[in-house]
Amino acid sequence: MPLAELHLHIEGTLEPETIVEFAGRNALRLPDKDIDALRARYEFTDLQSFLDLYYENMATLRTRADFAEMTWRYAVTAASQGVRHAEVFVDPQAHSARGIPAAVVLGGVADGLARAEAELGLTSGILVCVLRDRPIEEGRRMLDEALATGIPILGIGLDSAEVGHPPGQFAPIFAAAREAGLHCVAHAGEEGPPAYIWEALDVLGVERIDHGVRCLEDAALVARLVADAIPLTVCPVSNVRLRVVDTLADHPLRRMLDAGLRVTVNSDDPAYFGGYAGDNLERSRAALGLTDGQVRLLAANSVEASFAPEARKAQLRAELAEAASPRG
Ligand code: ADE
Ligand code: ZN
Repeated sequence: MPLAELHLHIEGTLEPETIVEFAGRNALRLPDKDIDALRARYEFTDLQSFLDLYYENMATLRTRADFAEMTWRYAVTAASQGVRHAEVFVDPQAHSARGIPAAVVLGGVADGLARAEAELGLTSGILVCVLRDRPIEEGRRMLDEALATGIPILGIGLDSAEVGHPPGQFAPIFAAAREAGLHCVAHAGEEGPPAYIWEALDVLGVERIDHGVRCLEDAALVARLVADAIPLTVCPVSNVRLRVVDTLADHPLRRMLDAGLRVTVNSDDPAYFGGYAGDNLERSRAALGLTDGQVRLLAANSVEASFAPEARKAQLRAELAEAASPRG
């Protein structure tokens, strides 16, 4: 099934094998000496327990070539699962805090994405994220530095530890990003309350909500999201692994579809959660008993909710139609 992936943290695609390989080539010592020891730590109790390991493992990314290689490897796996367009989150503050400039980070990701387009026909864009648990001024600097690289940036997002870090305080950064022509999205309603989703919409003016699963607790919010056709980039396997829900069978994805919400299925941090975009779609289908029509709707939503240029969306629509009724 052709898909657009709209919620994917590129640093969350660092597989244990790549971490060990990059640590070796960058002469860095890892606390976990082998891949099995590293993999044994991939058990999480909540978002923060995951973020601790996610930021720790990023230390193995040092050079532009590292970022390019990580991105290329993601693209190969994603393309093998039907991803035809990907809008990837990058966390530049997590790297500038360890002395790696935005030009190295974004340049490497852009190199990997350019290769993916040339060799795999996978189109893409970069969404830089503000880390909501870091000082606001640091987020503002990140935006300025990202824009100053001259590397094309598609949009801005908001991620990292959600509870206790409401979106509204980042309004000036999002206003500046919008002024610079960037699309605006934000993580909200993953662990945080529905009030954070309202704030992301009304104060930040975002075009999509990342996760948003807790919207179902607020009927007026659901009505608003439906009325404005706001896309929600849902990540079912992530929600299970970070204990937002107990099992995939309990996941609200189907209830969200039934409520008329514009939902898409995505992988979030696939190396950590054990499922790329196609895996998320297939496992959700199986666990929730989604119909073929619902699976097609999720794929179509991903294309419509993307920030791809209209001509690219038209190509992807044609690919979807072809997949729905193959000739011959
Ligand atoms: N950074 C990487 N993955 C994230 C997630 N699921 N929520 C918030 N921040 C993140
Ligand atoms: Zn995320």
